[in-house]
Amino acid sequence: MTQLTANSESSDTTFNHTTSSLNSFAPRLLDWFAENGRHDLPWQQHQTDTPNPYIVWLSEVMLQQTQVTTVLPYFARFMDTFPTVQDLAAAEWDVVAEHWAGLGYYARARNLHKGAKQLVEVIDETGDFPQTLAGWEAISGVGPSTAGAIMAMGLHRYGVICDGNVKRVLTRWAAIDGDITKSATTKELWALAERLTPIENSGLFAQAMMDMGATLCTRSKPACLLCPLKDDCLAHAEGRETDYPVKAKKQPKPSKFSDALLIEGASDDILWLQRPDNGIWGGLWSLPLQFIEKITGKATVIVQDTSLDKPLDVRSDEKVYEAEFTTAEQIINEWLIENKLVAASTSRTLLDDDPIKHSLTHFHWYLTPRKLTIDAKQINVLSEKLAAADIVFKWLSEQKAQDSLGLPRAMIKIIEH
Ligand code: ADE
Repeated sequence: MTQLTANSESSDTTFNHTTSSLNSFAPRLLDWFAENGRHDLPWQQHQTDTPNPYIVWLSEVMLQQTQVTTVLPYFARFMDTFPTVQDLAAAEWDVVAEHWAGLGYYARARNLHKGAKQLVEVIDETGDFPQTLAGWEAISGVGPSTAGAIMAMGLHRYGVICDGNVKRVLTRWAAIDGDITKSATTKELWALAERLTPIENSGLFAQAMMDMGATLCTRSKPACLLCPLKDDCLAHAEGRETDYPVKAKKQPKPSKFSDALLIEGASDDILWLQRPDNGIWGGLWSLPLQFIEKITGKATVIVQDTSLDKPLDVRSDEKVYEAEFTTAEQIINEWLIENKLVAASTSRTLLDDDPIKHSLTHFHWYLTPRKLTIDAKQINVLSEKLAAADIVFKWLSEQKAQDSLGLPRAMIKIIEH
């Protein structure tokens, strides 16, 4: 029950600082925040007596893994179209997906939509949003830190946050050198965050910690001279700020290779498929993809990374996935082979095709756009095959698809290629 001892002296031997350092942490941070923090972010609720938990929940989900500047226009559009949780819960998935398209990590959008429905159920039953940490943690996509942020900032109750920004600030201030991906370190950081969070004003404190992490205590160039915590920051004392947080080295990402098929009839409509709910881009729309079968060999090839605009080394002996297809893609693939519209084996020299590189959390994806023109009769046959298997698909021009469907960033890159 660390939270009950927040201002007592008894538990301080657990931490690397004196009681007076620990006790003065929050006042110093809050003074800095009052003078120098950001007070005009559209989701902030610290200047109102009637905080809106919907706004805090929505923005916190958007801000998981995404920067404030990226989130701002998305947040504005969401609030415009879905001003209340009831509006979001009642919306069609396609409309939500289209609003999210481009923000990445699409599982968050699916959780958000599911979470909105769960919240409306709670409101219908109890007359209000959840009022406890456990109540918020039961909502899809809400982890312990997001739940703490909503309690503190969205309800002005007591809540503790310990997200990536906070972990960076605390590992530096207390020179905590354990691997932050390990649960023992996570526990240590949560205990310290609880010890430092004031029982009154935990919302203001949460907002101030986020601001500190985002604007001063940044990953690579912390502005220590401006920091209210520099006098007793243990990493700063050693000039080792950027050695923290310690994180196990990531394995290099594997690569996948696919053709992205632009199947086109006489007009410029092309075939779009809605991705299955589970798996990558669940619920969003994509061109039919053909995973290219396992590649072996050691040739080193150079491709153009269109996002970086510089040559990039890609070695085809990197780990490569086996072919994988959705049901729709299997149907299309078999139909194309039957109709001799593609070669039966797509195994060929890759990467001399100028693919588009798209990096996702767990792999790099090299996508090669391939145009295939078919006639009106073939469009009908293919559409019938897809409809018979209950596949959700549309024939739409690139422009219309971009305007009306939720397309992941990789598809936009292909269209604009
Ligand atoms: N990152 C996560 N939550 C945030 C917030 N409320 N304000 C600024 N940056 C954040």
